[in-house]
Amino acid sequence: MIEKTVVLIKPDGMEKHVVGAIIDRFERAGLVLSALKLVQLTQPILDTWYAHHKDKPFFPELSKQMMSTPVVAMVLSGEGAIQKVFDICGPTDPAEAAPGTIRRDYGVDKPHNVVHRSDSVEAAAKEIGLLFTPDELH
Ligand code: CMP
Repeated sequence: MIEKTVVLIKPDGMEKHVVGAIIDRFERAGLVLSALKLVQLTQPILDTWYAHHKDKPFFPELSKQMMSTPVVAMVLSGEGAIQKVFDICGPTDPAEAAPGTIRRDYGVDKPHNVVHRSDSVEAAAKEIGLLFTPDELH
């Protein structure tokens, strides 16, 4: 099934200057860019984006970190895109990620894991709706 999924290159990824290298990994895997832009995240966006983490002790620090620089936001499309992007990024904790994944190669720890990726088709739809207008999707 052709799916759409959202990837954010988080502030720690922006500061490492690995935007091109990260996009290259997705394109080499056959994923297609449907949307791409720089976004300054805000607290209201993050309150909805991370609604499932709002009560966690790390939420205030996570929010601060996510707003510390603009982020690159993209929508990637392709056959089984959610799983493909999951495999390319690796799990949340870079220490548990396999060599060759983005989070293992560029990440430091859970708060600094370089990229966000949608967890599911439903999460992708919610995230696309929060960050993109219909005319920005190609
Ligand atoms: P992400 O997959 O973007 O979604 C939620 C983010 O919260 C996650 O990446 C991590 O950056 C962060 N996160 C998850 N668990 C923890 C934790 N235990 N401590 C700090 N940050 C966390």
